[in-house]
Amino acid sequence: MLFTIFGATGDLTTKKLIPALYRLYEEEQLPDPFTIVCIGRRHYETASFVAEIREKIEGEYPHWEAFQGRIHYLTMDFSVEANFEIFKLYVASLNLSQGGQKIYYLATAPHYFPIIARALIVNQMIVRGDMRSKIVFEKPFGEDLDTAKAYNRLLLESIEESQVYRIDHYLGKEMLQNVLTVRFANKIFESIWNHENIENIKIVALESESVKQRGGYYDRSGALKDMVQNHLFQTLALVAMDSPMGLSDTLIKNQKVEVLENLQISDDIVFGQYAGYLQEKGIPVDSKTETFVAIKAYVNTQRWRNTPFYLMTGKKMSHKLAEIIVTFKDASCFFEKGQPEKNTLTIEIFPREGIVLKFNGKAPGLQAYTMPMRLDYCHMCNVVGNSAEAYEKLILDVIHDDSSLFTRWDEIESSWRIIDSINRMKRFEPLHVYQSESEIMQVVDEKWRNA
Ligand SMILES: NC(=O)c1ccc[n+]([C@@H]2O[C@H](COP(=O)([O-])OP(=O)(O)OC[C@H]3O[C@@H](n4cnc5c(N)ncnc54)[C@H](OP(=O)(O)O)[C@@H]3O)[C@@H](O)[C@H]2O)c1
Repeated sequence: MLFTIFGATGDLTTKKLIPALYRLYEEEQLPDPFTIVCIGRRHYETASFVAEIREKIEGEYPHWEAFQGRIHYLTMDFSVEANFEIFKLYVASLNLSQGGQKIYYLATAPHYFPIIARALIVNQMIVRGDMRSKIVFEKPFGEDLDTAKAYNRLLLESIEESQVYRIDHYLGKEMLQNVLTVRFANKIFESIWNHENIENIKIVALESESVKQRGGYYDRSGALKDMVQNHLFQTLALVAMDSPMGLSDTLIKNQKVEVLENLQISDDIVFGQYAGYLQEKGIPVDSKTETFVAIKAYVNTQRWRNTPFYLMTGKKMSHKLAEIIVTFKDASCFFEKGQPEKNTLTIEIFPREGIVLKFNGKAPGLQAYTMPMRLDYCHMCNVVGNSAEAYEKLILDVIHDDSSLFTRWDEIESSWRIIDSINRMKRFEPLHVYQSESEIMQVVDEKWRNA
């Protein structure tokens, strides 16, 4: 197998891709022989590239010596189509065994996607119908609806949809995969999963980090394209979709698309930018890019009539956190003592993976007071050793031609349509500069309280 990473000097390769490939190697899950070609613009020799990656990655890598021998680094500007001939010659010089898979992983900003894809097609490094050659696109696929459509057209003119993998690593996360199981394998949840019983649903993905060295990429993207178009909308689709007729990939994706097609965004959006963003490397001094966004939306289906869905994501928050909070309506209650609280079901995605159900019970003692109680399930507590990271699962799925956890084109198309409409609203909304999470949350609370 030849696994080529475009954008290999980037954050994603160091933090996620190389560690995931290493773990798969350690677990003997990679086809053997395999070779990893890392392509970046910065100049390195393979030895210095590999040494730098090893220095940056955290954790135990007992078989690193053997693994690193499979990595090769090629300095190449991939925005120049002619350079792909050099890449082709380079691959030929590696004398790889014939007949293995060729996976091209585009860990780059989306505007490079058509350039790299076209060059691979023109140079016949990926060929229509040859299922041994596949191309993987990092999120976001496109910069808006028009570019996404253009990229997709370019691909499907020359290769098959089944050779294209549009990745959203959230879908590889354990607790995202668990959403459908918890919903549809339990009578107690699915029968009350509707507007009659649920007051609102919050989907939150907060990051404590700034844009760090990724300003050039991030400023063209912002929170809407970097997080909402993919991670948050995919999470929403899983939480809100109607029951599919079966658990096939196509049936599930059809239901997810239904959610996105029926999504109505309310005017009550809050856009924020963290104080100091304009001084970050690679950011124009007058940038209006949002680093925080809070959205109130409705899913116009029978199931969800008038139920608000709150989506929130931001950088420079007090801590990193991703979760889904389902808040149920008040119970009609005849207890006079103790005020029953609303039930909540929290699906924890990060840092803890788990499920917490809050409910009311009887306080110990002689009188019938109610008091809040919690059932707490820790998903990862019983796992021995390292649990699989999302990227391990997804890379393995590409190798095995399984696209069920990847995004289908119509999901992407629907989500860009919504993001484009939010971007049009953005022109009329203030951009709140925030010093802290509490400051921007106050703006959100006020906006939604008065809505
Ligand atoms: N970082 C994450 O944790 C993460 C998570 C999920 C998804 N993603 C997605 O992954 C993609 C990449 O993210 P990233 O964080 O790795 O970005 P990044 O740190 O900005 O890296 C992009 C890499 O592309 C290289 N590059 C840019 N132009 C090039 C050119 N013309 N020729 C050759 N190399 C070139 C850069 O190389 P030089 O610096 O050498 O110029 C840089 O190393 C984005 O689409 C992002 O949304 C990232």
